[in-house]
Amino acid sequence: MRTQVAIIGAGPAGLLLSHLLAEGGIESVVLETRTREYVESRIRAGILEHSTVELLDSLGLGKRVHAEGDPHNGIYLQWPQERHHIDFAGLVGRRVWVYGQTELQRDLGVARETGGQPIHYGISDTAVHEVVTEHPSVTFTDSAGRAQRITADVVVGCDGSFGPSRAAVPEHARSTWEHTYPYSWLGVLADVAPSTDELIYAWHPDGFAMHSMRSASVSRLYLQVPAGTDIADWSDDRIWTALATRLGHGQGGWTLNPGPITEKSVLPMRSFVMAPLRHGRLFLAGDAGHIVPPTGAKGLNLAVADVALLAPALIALLGEGDDRLAEEYSETALRRIWRCTHFSWWMTTMLHQSGDPFDAQLQLSQLRWVASSTAAATGLAENYAGLPIGF
Ligand code: APR
Ligand code: PHB
Repeated sequence: MRTQVAIIGAGPAGLLLSHLLAEGGIESVVLETRTREYVESRIRAGILEHSTVELLDSLGLGKRVHAEGDPHNGIYLQWPQERHHIDFAGLVGRRVWVYGQTELQRDLGVARETGGQPIHYGISDTAVHEVVTEHPSVTFTDSAGRAQRITADVVVGCDGSFGPSRAAVPEHARSTWEHTYPYSWLGVLADVAPSTDELIYAWHPDGFAMHSMRSASVSRLYLQVPAGTDIADWSDDRIWTALATRLGHGQGGWTLNPGPITEKSVLPMRSFVMAPLRHGRLFLAGDAGHIVPPTGAKGLNLAVADVALLAPALIALLGEGDDRLAEEYSETALRRIWRCTHFSWWMTTMLHQSGDPFDAQLQLSQLRWVASSTAAATGLAENYAGLPIGF
């Protein structure tokens, strides 16, 4: 097989990149280990930044976001006896949308199917070859068990944090930065109407908690738990009791509505960045190049921002032989990646119990500052609602 761009991974980065390339007249083939059903059912993120929605709208892919998504003008920051709204729209004129990644994944899947995009689901043994030549290739075993090779002008690793693309950049040619947090998130989906109109990020002596949502009838909630927590140790009752304690601000007049939990999992928290995001004719985008803790709601939006930068670079390179944007891709993408990595670290370390009483006082001071200072709140709003693409 032969194509212009071989994309490894049919997550948000891979599918959106294939769509953007097609818009620019560049053909691609997407290679994915999982089935389409699996990829579209993975419970993941739920917040689309302003820029992400603008990009989807420009592609005609935003209809369901506006029909079924939920625009939010801000979030609540909370600590005992205090709950403060941070008004993104009022502070920076940008907002976010609550729209599950599963829904975006479905929208992208339909768009690619409609566009006749070749996507090979259920592959295995993926390997990348000759990336420092002008004819790189990807070998794999297809879902029927046949050995396949696809030759391309460019290979893009959109294969997340466990795919083969990262390792295709030789150790001597790459730098990596990693920070592991000493806690995880226990996440639940529950068939119950959210008890809040906008997300609540709650600092609490027992640990962080967050109230998010997926729709008017589905809530998404998180609890800080120790790293390595076994989900079996957390019964539904224990989860709801902890959520009610940590999300209750103690002023009275607010209660958390419990309901049937339909999914629960423990999510480890770490930061990871790799540079450069290019090696020869191999490019990396999305989780393949970076991982952020979910506290800043940046993972999905960073993947979108990467491919929004990479697509025009590949269109210029393969369509016009102009490699300027391709040369600049890694450095430009890493500016935003480090900005989002810092913001995600800042939100995480401001809100999660470390067990150090000195930390706790610094955290409370930061929270009081953000809630009372327009300058500080604007800084949070600017980062959370998202910087323009190409920042
Ligand atoms: N061969 C083919 N596909 C692979 C391989 C492989 N060897 N390894 C991984 N994949 C696929 C995975 O099955 C997955 O569908 O690559 C895809 C990577 O998708 P994501 O992990 O969703 O990463 P990305 O598209 O960058 O989107 C980032 O997804 O993981 C969340 O929190 C993250 O919200 C963020 C978003
Ligand atoms: C979610 O709704 O899943 C969500 C929202 C905000 C975050 C992380 C996750 O910071």
